[in-house]
Formats: sequence, structure tokens, C-alpha cells
Amino acid sequence: TERLDTPGGVPATASHDAAGIAPLGAAAQFKSSDAAPPSERLFVSSLASLDGTKPVRGGIPICWPIFGPPSRDEYKGLKQHGFARSSVWSYGETVLDAAEGVSARFVLQNSAETEKVFPQPFKLVYTVTLAEHQLTTSLRVYNTGAQPLTFQALLHNYFRGDAAVAQVQPLKGIGYVDKVRDGARDTEQRDTVDVRQYTDRVYETAGGAYTLSFPPSTHLSIKTHNLPDVTVWNPQETGSGMADMEPGGWERYVCVEPGYVARFVSLPGGGEWWGQQVLTVL
Ligand code: BG6
Repeated sequence: TERLDTPGGVPATASHDAAGIAPLGAAAQFKSSDAAPPSERLFVSSLASLDGTKPVRGGIPICWPIFGPPSRDEYKGLKQHGFARSSVWSYGETVLDAAEGVSARFVLQNSAETEKVFPQPFKLVYTVTLAEHQLTTSLRVYNTGAQPLTFQALLHNYFRGDAAVAQVQPLKGIGYVDKVRDGARDTEQRDTVDVRQYTDRVYETAGGAYTLSFPPSTHLSIKTHNLPDVTVWNPQETGSGMADMEPGGWERYVCVEPGYVARFVSLPGGGEWWGQQVLTVL
């Protein structure tokens, strides 16, 4: 018996059936807490590949074991953002299936395929919990080997909304790496961060709790555990260079991506780590 990873979640007994494939990149639906009809909160490009040949352009890709291109020699065989987002995960178990919400676990373990580019043994368990106005996703990493397991992790949320009005806060005073300016380091001066220009910033040790607004309508809260950094990304017109981006798609989302990416987690043999985000419609 295990408790849900969700703060305030309903404890549930896990069953141990296993089979099937998880459509992990697919969008989830939130329902507003008022009487309004449910509306989609995550963006998925209509040109996204959903057959596993490419990472899904939308939803919540899981970046693991690295974020961005490989920065360490031992990971040079990895693609940008690692392999977790383009791997087929196994369905693990249903944790909760009730009026209050649904929750399921998915598993990815090392295989002959991952060992070609990443020699370390590991087990990832991803728990997705959807309640009436809240989506919680938790990533647990188990080092099933004896050597330290070194990794980064990031949840690459594509939030649906008008990018022209999107506002993220509070990031004022937070140091960031600006990928648009060749990795220049700077400190955020604005009360409210927007993406009206091409934006690709990794805010380091950013506080872990944010609000994303699309005034005057939608407000979302993003709360995290163990994911201290946050990337804000919108490619604007440069998005037209992506084969799987629908025309003008960059106008319809903003990525706000909590992660552990400024440094690497080093997990000793047999160790366990978890990171979590709780997304709430306010
Ligand atoms: C963001 C990065 O997280 O993901 C950007 O900061 C990158 O630099 C973007 O362009 C999309 O990456 P990809 O590999 O999905 O095209």
C-alpha cells in the first residue's frame, strides 16, 4: 500500500495489474471549479507525431536524464532533453479511480535501447493525478544500480492560451540563463514575465511556486517539489522552423517548465528521488 504523491490526495491502495501503453504526451483536461464547461488547458500541435517516432510537440514531455543538449561527455550519445519523452512507457497501476479524481502510474526502466546511449540502470515511475480543477504529475527516480546515477529532470508543460497576453510571476530578482543570448547570465527585472518576444530563459532556484495568467480570463497556479528551476520558453516566429509545429502554433501556448536543471542530481546506488508539480486552475 502506498500513499498518493499528491499533497491532499486521497490515499489509495495500489493494485498490481500491468499491461498496455501510456499515451504520455497527450493532453489532459481540467475542469474549472465553477460551473463553466471543461476546457483544454494544455496545447498539443496538430502536427505533433503521436506514434513515438518523435517527442510529442505539446502536452507535458518529460525531459530525463538531461535537459537541453548533452553538457557532459558521458552523455554525448543522448538527444536533446534525453529519451524519456520519446520512449514507450508501461502502464503500471491505477492508484485512484473515484469521483474525486483519477490517478495512474506509468513506468520506464532501462532496456537494451536505453543502454545504447545511457549505460546506467534506472527505474522511473510517473504518477498522473487528475482532479476536478487540478493536475498533479510526479516523477520518481530509482537508482537500481550500484554506481551513482546522475541526471537532470524537467516537466515541459505546454500551457494553452494566448501567448500575446501570457504573464508569469513572481520571477523578479531571479538569476537566469538566456538561451536566446548564447547563454548569457542575467537577473530578471520585471514583476511580470511575458513571451511577446522570442523567449528561452532558464531561471535558477526560482522559488518553486508560480502563477501563469492569460488576462483577463485564466489563472493557473504551478507548485512544485524538488524542481527548483523553471524554464520559460516561447519560440515566436522561430517556431515556424519546427516541422511538427502547426502554423502559428507558438501564438497559442507558453511553456513554463519546472525542473532540476541548473545542476545534476547525483543519486547513490539504491537511492530514490522525486520531483512533483501541482497545476491548479484558480
Ligand atoms: C525548451 C528549451 O525547454 O525546449 C528550448 O529551453 C528548446 O531551448 C525547447 O528549443 C524545445 O525543445 P525541443 O527539443 O522539443 O524542440
